[in-house]
Order: sequence, then C-alpha cells, then structure tokens
Amino acid sequence: MTTRAEAIKAIEAAHVLQNYKRHPVVFVRGSGSHLVDTEGREYLDLLSGIGVASLGHAPPELGAALTAQAGELLHTSNLFFHPLQGEVAERLARLSGLPRAFFCNSGTEAVEACLKFARRYWRTNGADERHEIVAFEGAFHGRTFGSLSVTAGEPYRTPFAPLLPGVRFVSATDPDGVRAAVTDRTAAVILEPIQGEGGVRPIPAATAAAVAEVCVATGTLLIADEVQCGLGRTGRPLYSTALGLTPDLISIGKSLGGGFPVAAALMSDAVAATVAFGDHGTTYGGNLLACRAALVFLDALENGLLERVTAAGHRVRQGLDALAADGDAVHEVRGDGLMWGVEVDRSVADRTVDCALARGLVLNRTAGTVIRLLPPLNISDDDIDEGLRRLRLALVDAGATLPAS
Ligand SMILES: Cc1ncc(COP(=O)(O)O)c(C=O)c1O
Repeated sequence: MTTRAEAIKAIEAAHVLQNYKRHPVVFVRGSGSHLVDTEGREYLDLLSGIGVASLGHAPPELGAALTAQAGELLHTSNLFFHPLQGEVAERLARLSGLPRAFFCNSGTEAVEACLKFARRYWRTNGADERHEIVAFEGAFHGRTFGSLSVTAGEPYRTPFAPLLPGVRFVSATDPDGVRAAVTDRTAAVILEPIQGEGGVRPIPAATAAAVAEVCVATGTLLIADEVQCGLGRTGRPLYSTALGLTPDLISIGKSLGGGFPVAAALMSDAVAATVAFGDHGTTYGGNLLACRAALVFLDALENGLLERVTAAGHRVRQGLDALAADGDAVHEVRGDGLMWGVEVDRSVADRTVDCALARGLVLNRTAGTVIRLLPPLNISDDDIDEGLRRLRLALVDAGATLPAS
C-alpha cells in the first residue's frame, strides 16, 4: 500500500518543477519549535522555514488573528486606502527610523524595490549617470533579475546571464576596496549586515565604517538587506544599527509575517519623495492578511521578544562554543542572537543535515561548509539544550571527531 508520504512525493515528482532538492521528509503539523511528519515522528526545528516561522509553528495568536481577518476581508488591492498598512508602516518606522514603507510579498521583491527606488532617486535628481551598484562578495539578495544581479555566487548568476550591468563586487574584508569601488556613477551600496546564505558572516566593523564614510562623503545611498538578519533575529530590531550604519533603504521580510508571506522596502523621506505615482507596484503586496500577520509579529517583537532572543542567543552561543572547544571538528562559530553558522569540514557538512534529520533535528547547510541555525525567535531553553544535544550527535554521525556527550 502506498503511504501518504510516498503519494505526496510521487505527485510532486510528476508535476512540481524539480528546482529544489528536497529532503525525504513530509512535515504535516507543527507546534512551537516542533514539527511532525506523516509518520507521526517529531522533530526539533532549528531552522524555522529558513528564518520565517519567527513565532514558532502554528502560534495560536497568529492563527486566531488570521482567521478573524479572513472572516472580515482578505484583499482589496493597492488601489484603495487600506485599514492596516498605515499602522504596520508606522510601527516599522519607529523600529527602523525610516518613515516610509512599500509592502510586497517576498525578500527578493523588497530588494528589487530598494534597487529601483535607488535608481529613481538619482534620475529624479537629474543624475542619470548614477546607476551603478556596489555589492559584496558572498552576498545573497534574491533570485529575481535585479536582486540576482547584486547576488555574488556564480552558480546563481551564470545560468541567467547577462544580468544588470554596472554592479561591482567588493570583498567584505577590504575597507579600502569599498572606498575605491564607490565612484561618481554609484547609485547605492547594498549589503547584508550579516551575510546569511554566504555563511553567516557579519560585515566586519572596519568595512562597515568604510561604507558609512564613503556613502556620506559621496551622497551614495545605502541599502541594508535585513531580510534574514533583521526584525529581532539578533536580539535587535535591525542589525545595521549594531554596525553603526544609517541606511537610506532597508529590505525586510522572512520573520515579519511569522509564516505568512509579507515583506517591505523601508526608505527615507528623501528617497520616497523621488518616487512618483505608478513608478512601482504590486497587486498583493501588504494585503489585509499580510498586514494582520505583521501586526501580530510586531506585537510580539515589542513585548519581550527581543530580550528573549538575546537571552536565548547567549545560551546557543555557549553551547556552540562548548562544541568548538571539544576537539577540532568545529572550526568557527559565527553569528549573533538566534542566527548562527557552524563551520565544519566539507565532508562533515555534506552529511550533517541528513544525520540531523535522522536524529529528529531540522537545520541546514549553506556556503558548502556551514551548518546554519535560525530557530524560532521564541524557542525555549529546553528546546535549545535538546537541539544542541542532537546537533552534537548529528555531527558525530556525520564523521566529526567529537565526544558524543
Ligand atoms: C538577505 C536576503 N535577502 C533576500 C532574500 C530573498 O528572500 P526571498 O526568498 O523571500 O525572496 C534572502 C533569502 O534567503 C536573504 O537571505
């Protein structure tokens, strides 16, 4: 007899574009930091759908708010005034210092909007020649054409070349290179304050200082892509502030809807003033359900979630440091709050995710050799401890030389 998991896999294999190499598990339910598969097996989730299920799985307050909103009104488009967008935008303005928001559905759309608005700023100001972008090696900003053009990895780019012209990539460890790359043709510098897909790498302080200095000196706009590291992920509303940066535009997404797709480009009044009616738009962006979800998340963020992430982050860091101190299997631990990368040998990294799943643990691998943790922002101490225990076992199973306890 065909199991439910086999039936799901078969119909996907026949009809879903095979662009994701899926892990052989079918999750059907979740609660908090836990997931359950078709066989009733429970998993501890230290990935939260790549940093999206910020309030854990099936949070009751989000479910109730979405159900109530769905019973009232789902969508009216952006042609009409909106009962909720202003409130979400106002709360994001308080968090970010950027007074205006454009709502969209995904991180790549938020980045795309930032890039378009940066170009628009210079064109409106009569400087058409300022259309180039400076981005960073190791950067990941999404997969639509604009975002892909400022994403560094060749495997992402090559199949779709040619991309946007005028993008220069600089090393995140070369502050002088940053200063040299910004010219009188540069519209904006774009950076992830902590590179996520690139291996959980915070931008070094000296590079951030060079970015701030050169942007101020030349009037170049600064775009901070906080889609992964922002909105409480590190225990701060946004990570660019920790680096002493004051971006003109910020892209956010992932955590904002707690699992409901919603993202935004936040911008200064100076940028917003250069965007005219009809310049950019989206049918769905920030619809009523999306904004209702964002309000639930922002309520949590403003009511203790940041403090919780900071405390939880210390606990995770201590656990990972203990792993790193136990022999030489773990080469480096990087991150902040609840965003961590654990650098291991390639051969270990290749096997860790599967070994973790076999141990009932969900995490992922990025940049070849980095095991990445992005747990729900409200994960409990007990789940952290159990997750770290299973991570150690998974690393041992994957071939790391570590004591098993
Ligand atoms: C920093 C950053 N920017 C943009 C994106 C793209 O977001 P999305 O997948 O929602 O389009 C991601 C996704 O991982 C990201 O990490």
